[in-house]
Amino acid sequence: MKPIIIVHGGAGDIPNSRVQGKLDGVKVAVTAGQEVLNKGGSALDAVEAAVVSMEKDDNFNAGYGSVLNLQGEVEMEASMMSGTNLDVGAITLIKEFSHPISIAHKVLTDSPHSLLGGEGAKLFALEKGFKVVPSDSLISMNAREALKKFLKHGEFGRTEIGPEDEGGVGTVGAVAIDAEGRVAVATSTGGMSGKAVGRIGDTPQIGSGTYADDKIGGVSTTGHGESILKFCLAHSIIKLMEGGADANTATRNAVNAMTARLNNTAGAITLSNKGEVGVHFSSKRMSWAYVKDNKIFYGIEHGQVFEEQCK
Ligand code: GLY
Repeated sequence: MKPIIIVHGGAGDIPNSRVQGKLDGVKVAVTAGQEVLNKGGSALDAVEAAVVSMEKDDNFNAGYGSVLNLQGEVEMEASMMSGTNLDVGAITLIKEFSHPISIAHKVLTDSPHSLLGGEGAKLFALEKGFKVVPSDSLISMNAREALKKFLKHGEFGRTEIGPEDEGGVGTVGAVAIDAEGRVAVATSTGGMSGKAVGRIGDTPQIGSGTYADDKIGGVSTTGHGESILKFCLAHSIIKLMEGGADANTATRNAVNAMTARLNNTAGAITLSNKGEVGVHFSSKRMSWAYVKDNKIFYGIEHGQVFEEQCK
């Protein structure tokens, strides 16, 4: 199997001011994941590396730069799935760690449980040697401004990424297949600006934000969390592929069906277990990138595909 990796940097009304940063960020992230695969690394390590790259970058709503809840705090969520044995690891309501995706990976490999939240997730992370950081150090200027604007109107977003003056960031995700044909998926988020304290979205919920099955493929989603989780969007795409749809058709049909039914937007990236790519979003924009045949393909607008030689 020829290894392949695809990433997304969030679906929504991404403002013009955020477009270049997001395009640069997804290219850096997909390259970080591809380097792991090129060295013979596992799909799980590749998706973690790609997501860690975006968790460091405040062009994205994950790790540093996560949006804030109503009390002005970062409360992050992440999940990871291995398609080989359907192993999963997820965390939610975590505040003081730079890389939630690495903790989710540890839950997958080292815990008898699938999803840990809040204080329990923190205890687990400390036991496994993750270091706490001051939660304020994860808050970007942009996230503070976004919450201020949100508090003026108080209407919870219909898209994950608000307008120009409300953040313009987005959930991140990655799907990879390694040389042994193993599929892995990782997704990480700060949720939605102005969310209630304790609100849990789609990202840590397996079947909504993340799904992987070596027999079919893998999916990571982004967008309006309450809609994605009602629709079990990642698993809906997997089921369409299981029924014979190709990756792109399955992704497009499930995302559009969710939007038609629930009147909110989403996006998803998909790989079939043969390495076929699916990208679709019903929002205005979604940044994405994948590497194939030593070229990076990427875009953010509907119908847009840029192509560059890998360095
Ligand atoms: N899709 C991220 C969230 O709604 O939390």
